[in-house]
Amino acid sequence: MNFTNCFMILMLQFILVLGSATKPRVRLDIQDKHVIIDNGIVQVNLSNPEGIVTGIQYNGIDNLLEVLNDESNRGYWDIVWDQGGEKRTKKGAKGKGRFDRMEGTNLTVIVNNEEQVELSFTRTWNASLEGKLPPLNIDKRFVMLRGSSGFYTYAIYEHLKEWPAFDLDNTRIAFKPRKDKFHYMVVADNRQRFMPLPDDRSPPRGQVLAYPEAVRLVDPVEPHFKGEVDDKYEYSCESRNNHVHGWMSIDSLNSTGFWLITPSYEFRSAGPLKQYLTSHVGPTTLSVFHSTHYSGADLIMKFGPNEPWKKVYGPISIYLNSQSNGFSPTKLWEDAKQQMVNEVESWPYKFPASKDFLSSEQRGKVEGRLLVRDRYISDAFIPVSGAYVGLAAIGDVGSWQRECKGYQFWTMTDDKGFFSIINIRPGDYNLYSWVTGYIGDYKFDRVINVTSGCKIDVGELVYEPPRDGPTLWEIGIPDRSAAEFYVPDPNPIYINRLYVNHSERYRQYGLWERYAELYPNEDLVYTVGVSDYRKDWFFAQVTRKKDNYTYQGTTWQIKFKLDSVNTNWTYILRVALASVHGAELEIRINKVDANPGLFSSGVIGKENSIARHGIHGLYWLFSIDIQGSLLVQGNNTIFLTQLQNKSPFIGILYDYIRLEYKRSTS
Ligand SMILES: *[C@@H]1O[C@H](CO)[C@@H](O)[C@H](O)[C@H]1NC(C)=O
Ligand SMILES: *[C@@H]1O[C@H](CO)[C@@H](O)[C@H](O)[C@H]1NC(C)=O
Ligand SMILES: *[C@@H]1O[C@H](CO)[C@@H](O)[C@H](O)[C@H]1NC(C)=O
Ligand SMILES: *[C@@H]1O[C@H](CO)[C@@H](O)[C@H](O)[C@H]1NC(C)=O
Ligand SMILES: *[C@@H]1O[C@H](CO)[C@@H](O)[C@H](O)[C@H]1NC(C)=O
Ligand SMILES: *[C@@H]1O[C@H](CO)[C@@H](O)[C@H](O)[C@H]1NC(C)=O
Ligand SMILES: *[C@@H]1O[C@H](CO)[C@@H](O)[C@H](O)[C@H]1NC(C)=O
Ligand SMILES: *[C@@H]1O[C@H](CO)[C@@H](O)[C@H](O)[C@H]1NC(C)=O
Ligand SMILES: *[C@@H]1O[C@H](CO)[C@@H](O)[C@H](O)[C@H]1NC(C)=O
Repeated sequence: MNFTNCFMILMLQFILVLGSATKPRVRLDIQDKHVIIDNGIVQVNLSNPEGIVTGIQYNGIDNLLEVLNDESNRGYWDIVWDQGGEKRTKKGAKGKGRFDRMEGTNLTVIVNNEEQVELSFTRTWNASLEGKLPPLNIDKRFVMLRGSSGFYTYAIYEHLKEWPAFDLDNTRIAFKPRKDKFHYMVVADNRQRFMPLPDDRSPPRGQVLAYPEAVRLVDPVEPHFKGEVDDKYEYSCESRNNHVHGWMSIDSLNSTGFWLITPSYEFRSAGPLKQYLTSHVGPTTLSVFHSTHYSGADLIMKFGPNEPWKKVYGPISIYLNSQSNGFSPTKLWEDAKQQMVNEVESWPYKFPASKDFLSSEQRGKVEGRLLVRDRYISDAFIPVSGAYVGLAAIGDVGSWQRECKGYQFWTMTDDKGFFSIINIRPGDYNLYSWVTGYIGDYKFDRVINVTSGCKIDVGELVYEPPRDGPTLWEIGIPDRSAAEFYVPDPNPIYINRLYVNHSERYRQYGLWERYAELYPNEDLVYTVGVSDYRKDWFFAQVTRKKDNYTYQGTTWQIKFKLDSVNTNWTYILRVALASVHGAELEIRINKVDANPGLFSSGVIGKENSIARHGIHGLYWLFSIDIQGSLLVQGNNTIFLTQLQNKSPFIGILYDYIRLEYKRSTS
C-alpha cells in the first residue's frame, strides 16, 4: 500500500470518528401510517403497523430506496410457504409456494432511549387464518443505535404445537435501492461491476433465454452491455463467504454505498457451503436466510401438525457509507468490508432486546482437535488445517447439508488441527466435519450438550475416511466441487464479461450446451494415465441436444489398464458427486450392455446447479464393490451412463472418482 492510500484511509477513518463524536440521540416519531427513526446520520421510515421499510434518508439523498416502487416493494421481509402434507397446492408441489410479505398488524416500541430505538412489528396467527397465511407468529424487529451509519433488523418466527402442518420454502429480507443512482454492484473483491438497468431485461431490450431469470441484453439503454447475459444466479455465493455485498451510487462528488452485512451464518440453513442469492439487477440486495436453491425439495422445511418451533433470523446490518470528492469508489467497498469485520467481531450483538436472541454469556463453547487417518496413504494421524468443524442438529452423517430448522455453528481447524467453536446456543448437537482432500463426512458419535457458559473439550477426534485398500487410480480432487475439471468458455453470444478469464468462470450462462459441440456424436472417453482431468473431463455430465426439442442421455467411459487381476479380490469404486439434477446414473464394467448394470442410483437430485451455474450442490458419495472376476488383465472400461433426458439441465457434477482394491482375507 502506498503512502497516498494510507493517507486516504486515515482521512476516511478520521471523518468516521468525527461523525461519532458529534452523535445526536436516536429519535422516534410515531405517525398514523408511518414511524420514523433517526439518529442524525440515517433516517428510516417504516410503514405502521406493517413494518415495511418505505424510506431510508442518508447523505443528502431523500430516499435511497426505489421511490417509483409501491411502498410495500422497497424493503421487506418475506416468506414463500405452503400448507403441509396433502394440503400442499399443485402450484406449491411444483416448488413455487405462496408468497407472503410478512406484514405486521401491531407495532410495539420495545426500546426508546438516547442510545437505541427498537421497534417490534408483530403478526399473530390464529385458526381463522388457516390456508391464508403461514401458521407462524412473526415478530420483526428494527433497531437503530446512536452514531451508527445504518440500522439492524432481525425476526423471530414461531410455530406453536397445536398449529397445522406447513412448508417453509424460502425466507429472506429484500431491499430495492433506487435504479437512477445505484449502478455498481459488489459481491466480492473479484465479483463487482457496473450492472445493466432493470429496463434492459424487459422485451424488446432483453430476450429471455432458457428460463426467465436469464436474459440476453439485445438493446440495452447503455450500449456497452449489448450482447451480455444477465442472470441473478451468476451472483450466488456460498454462506461461508456471504458476509457483505451491495450497491454503490458512484458520483464524482458524492458516492453512496448500500450494504447488507450478515455477521454470522448461524441462522442460515444448511451450513457453510449452501449457496444463496446476493445482489442482482433491480437493483436488488437480499439477505436470504433459507432457500431451496442448489439443493432442491430436500431443503423445504416441513413442519408437522404438532411441531413447536421458534427461530431467530438475524440480526443483520444495513450499512450505509459515503465519500465525497477525491476518494476512489473502491474505498467504499474497502470500508464496507472493514465494517463487516467490526460486525463479525461484535457477534453475538449485545443490543437486541428480545430474550430469544442470546448474549455471549448465555452461549457455550466446544473445542478439540481433528486428525485424519487414511490407512493405505499413511498410518499416521494427520492434523488437518482448514477443515470445517461444526455443530448442527442431531442427525445422520452429513445431515448438516440438509438441516434447516436449527442453528449451525462452524469454524475451521488451525494448522495443527485444533478448533474452537464459540458462541453456541444451548442445546443438543452433533459435531460434524468434512476435510478437503479426503472423501466422505465425519460425525462424532456423542451428543454434545451445550449449556450457557460451558466449555466442552472433546479432545482428539479421528476421521477415518471410507477406504478399503490402496488407490489404483483417481480422477479429480475430493473437495465437493467440480471446479477443477474442464470448464469451457461460454458461447460468445452468452457472455457475462465479469467472468471472462475468471477463477469462477463456471458462472457463465449456457455452458451445458458446449458439451454437444465438443462431443457431437461420441461421448467423453477418459483414459487413466493419458488423460488430464483438468482438460479432458467435462465439468458436468449433461444431456446432449439432439434437435430443438429432444435431448439424450450420455455414456462416459473411463479406460484403465490393470497389470494383473486377482479374481478373488474386491475392487471398490468410490464415486463422489458434487451435485445432481434429475439424474440417473448407471455403472457397468467392460460390458456396456450388461443388464442389470453393476450400480444404479435411481433418479436423484433436484439441485438445479447446472442451470444456475453452481459448481456444486449437495454432496453424494457412492461406494461400489466390483468383484475381481468382472475385471481383466489389460484394458478395462467403466461405463458411466446418465439415462435421463428430459431437459438440458439434467446431469451430474462429479467431485472425484477413485478405484481401490481390497485383498481377499479368505
Ligand atoms: C414516510 O414515508 C411516507 C410514504 O412514503 C411519506 O408519506 C412520509 O412523508 C414519510 N415520512 C418522512 C418523515 O419522511
Ligand atoms: C453530499 O453529501 C452530504 C452529506 O455527507 C450532503 O449533505 C450533501 O448535500 C451532498 N452533496 C451533494 C452535492 O450531493
Ligand atoms: C399492540 O401494541 C400495543 C402498543 O404497543 C400493545 O400495548 C399491545 O399489547 C399490542 N397488542 C398485541 C396483541 O400484541
Ligand atoms: C384471528 O386473527 C384475525 C386476523 O388478525 C383477527 O381479526 C381475529 O380477531 C383473530 N381471532 C381471534 C379469536 O383472536
Ligand atoms: C442437555 O442439558 C439440558 C439442560 O441441562 C437438559 O435439559 C437436556 O436433557 C440435556 N440433554 C442431554 C441429551 O443430556
Ligand atoms: C484470457 O486469458 C488468456 C491467457 O491467460 C489470454 O490469452 C486471453 O487474451 C484472455 N482473454 C480475455 C478476453 O481477457
Ligand atoms: C431449430 O431452431 C433453430 C433456431 O431457433 C431454427 O432455425 C430451426 O429451424 C429449428 N429447427 C427445427 C427442426 O425446428
Ligand atoms: C481364489 O480363492 C480360491 C479359494 O480360496 C483359491 O482356491 C484360488 O486359488 C484363489 N485364486 C486366486 C487367483 O488367488
Ligand atoms: C489398451 O489401451 C491402450 C490405451 O488406450 C491402447 O493403446 C492399447 O492398444 C489397448 N490394448 C488392447 C489390447 O486393446
